[in-house]
Amino acid sequence: MSADSSRDHSRSVETPVVRPRRLRTTPAVRRLVAETRLHPAELILPLFVREGVSAPVPISAMPGVVQHTRDTLRKAAVEAAEAGVGGLMLFGIPAVQDATGSEGTNPDGILQQAIRDVVAEVGDQVVIMSDLCLDEYTDHGHCGVLAADGSVDNDATLERYAEMAVVQADAGVHMVGPSGMMDGQIAVVRTALDAAGHQDVAVLAYTAKYASAFFGPFREAVGSSLKGDRKSYQQDPANAREALRELELDLAEGADLVMVKPAMAYLDILRQVADLSPVPVAAYQVSGEYSMVEAAAANGWIDRERAIMETLTSIRRAGANQVLTYWAVEAAELLRRR
Ligand code: PBG
Repeated sequence: MSADSSRDHSRSVETPVVRPRRLRTTPAVRRLVAETRLHPAELILPLFVREGVSAPVPISAMPGVVQHTRDTLRKAAVEAAEAGVGGLMLFGIPAVQDATGSEGTNPDGILQQAIRDVVAEVGDQVVIMSDLCLDEYTDHGHCGVLAADGSVDNDATLERYAEMAVVQADAGVHMVGPSGMMDGQIAVVRTALDAAGHQDVAVLAYTAKYASAFFGPFREAVGSSLKGDRKSYQQDPANAREALRELELDLAEGADLVMVKPAMAYLDILRQVADLSPVPVAAYQVSGEYSMVEAAAANGWIDRERAIMETLTSIRRAGANQVLTYWAVEAAELLRRR
């Protein structure tokens, strides 16, 4: 602005020469200049499979999402593959939980059976991934085993993770997702996989995972018994720097992909990680992010489909290469219709 125009109040509006609106005038021009494009192949669908149920069990806090039977899981996997979704992240819900999460390392445990089922069904078309964590399997609901004083024992938990990794890889999974935020987990999982001859099984590291209220609905989804919180192992929402430290460590320990989680409240973290990471960066649009939009849409407060696509676009724009989302199939179908 010139010094003149600020003084001359009789001429308060100048005719603009630069008009950014030109590139917003028509759908065709907007499409031409869009910087961020979503594609079904980069979407990853989380799926829950529950032992011992004969019909899918709805998750009330996540309308539209269910705990699958082995049979309906297979069908959901086929549906996702047909929609062009790039990956499936499997979570198992065992019939029995105990202190050490024994079912997590049972070769015939529900998750291992589900991996075998889904790999046989769609393993050629879609990347099959499994959650590598104990919270679904422990009766206290923590992501690890407990020390005598009730704290989560980092190094004893690592031993369990090593065993889990091998059992999941033996079942045929393509990629494991250690999500427990134990120190050293990526190195331990990588070493265990290699020692068992699973050099080609990749590790999707949950690198920056925050102790978030947005995981709330997931607790119902996996029948978690957690009392208390995960603040002694998941990151403090107030902190950004430690995410970069976690990134450095996970890379040094052999992570093939890294992840930021949750997504929407942590887009700044996602951007910082994306700017530094030499490996692909995933983001997890978690249960609470899903449920917020679904609840607002159910009340008629928000345009559901637009909100879904806007959140996914924002996550991609912030730097995610892959997005885990409960809307993966629906979003893939919406993208195809565009
Ligand atoms: C831990 C795990 C959690 C989620 C994915 N893996 C829960 C937690 O850390 O408390 C949350 C996913 C979501 O909220 O959608 N196994």
